[in-house]
Amino acid sequence: MVNVEKFIDRAVREIRDAAGVEKVVMALSGGVDSSVCAALATRAIGDRLVPIYVDTGLMRKGETEQIRSLFADADLRVVDAADEFFEALAGITDPEEKRKAIGAKFVRIFEREAKRTGATMLLQGTIYPDRIESEGGIKSHHNVGGMPLDIEFKGVIEPIADLYKDEVREVAGGLGLPAEIQHRMPFPGPGLAVRVLGEVTKEKVAVVREANAIVEECLVEEFGPWQCFAALIGLGTGVKGDVRLHGWIVAVRAVQSRDGMTAEPLLLPYETLARMAARITGEIPGVARVVYDVTPKPPATIEYE
Ligand code: XMP
Repeated sequence: MVNVEKFIDRAVREIRDAAGVEKVVMALSGGVDSSVCAALATRAIGDRLVPIYVDTGLMRKGETEQIRSLFADADLRVVDAADEFFEALAGITDPEEKRKAIGAKFVRIFEREAKRTGATMLLQGTIYPDRIESEGGIKSHHNVGGMPLDIEFKGVIEPIADLYKDEVREVAGGLGLPAEIQHRMPFPGPGLAVRVLGEVTKEKVAVVREANAIVEECLVEEFGPWQCFAALIGLGTGVKGDVRLHGWIVAVRAVQSRDGMTAEPLLLPYETLARMAARITGEIPGVARVVYDVTPKPPATIEYE
C-alpha cells in the first residue's frame, strides 16, 4: 500500500494543479471511491467542487435518502433522473449496450449540470481494476469504457485511478471519513441495471431492489461479506397458495475478495440460505424461486452482466 498521508498530499496537489481556476463537477454516489474523491477535491479546491448525486432509479432501497443525510453538510445537488434512465434503457437487452447507454446518460447529465453550474472539468472515482477490466475488453465499466467520445469537458481528473479498493478504504480512513463510508460494500455504477438480466424495466428493478435489501439484511452484519446482492436471472414456474405462477428466479451472490479481481463464494450455512429464500419468496409476490451462486471469479464475474 502507498503511504496514506503522502498519497493524500500528492493527490490534493495534483487535483489543484489539474483544476487550475476551473470549477469541477463530480458524481458522488456515496460509495467509498467517490466519497474519497470528494474529500480530496474539497481539500484541493474547496467550493469549486460541484458534487452531484444522480438518482438513476437504479439505486438500492433507501439509498438516496441515506446519501442525502450522510452528505447533509456538503452542497450536494440531487438530480432525479430515474425516468430519463429507464427511457434510455427501454428495449436494450445486450449487457454491453446497457452499460454504454447508462454511461452516455451519466455524461449527458453531468454536462448539463456542469453548464448550469459553470463547471468545465469532470472528476471521476475510477479505480485501478475498472481500468484494467475495461482496457482488457472484459466489459465497459460505466465510468470508463461507457464514456462517449464527444465529451464536452476541458479535462477529466481521476485521483484514485492507480489504487485498488482496499487501498481506497485506507485512504478513506486517513481522510477521517465515517466508518459507514469506509467499509461500504462496493456497488456498481450502473446500479441494479446489471442485476437484471435482459431488458431493464421499473417492475424488474423494484423486485430486485426488495430482494437485494433482504439479502443485505440476512448477510451483511452476520457474515461481513466483501459484497452480497440479489439478481433477477429469469422466469420460472412456481406455485404460491394453490396457484401456479410464472415467477422471477432470484440469484443470491455473496463473495469474499481483496480487490474484486478474483472472488470466492461465501460458504453459507444451509439454515441461512433457507431463511433467506423463504423471506424473498414470502415477501415479494412475483418471486417463485431463489438460487445461491457458488461460482468463484474466475470463471464467473461478481456481477451478472
Ligand atoms: P465484476 O462483475 O467485474 O465486478 O467481477 C468487480 C467489482 O466491480 C464492481 N463493478 C463496477 N463498479 N462500475 C463500477 O463502479 C461498473 O460498471 C462496475 N461493474 C462492476 C462490482 O460490483 C464488483 O465489486
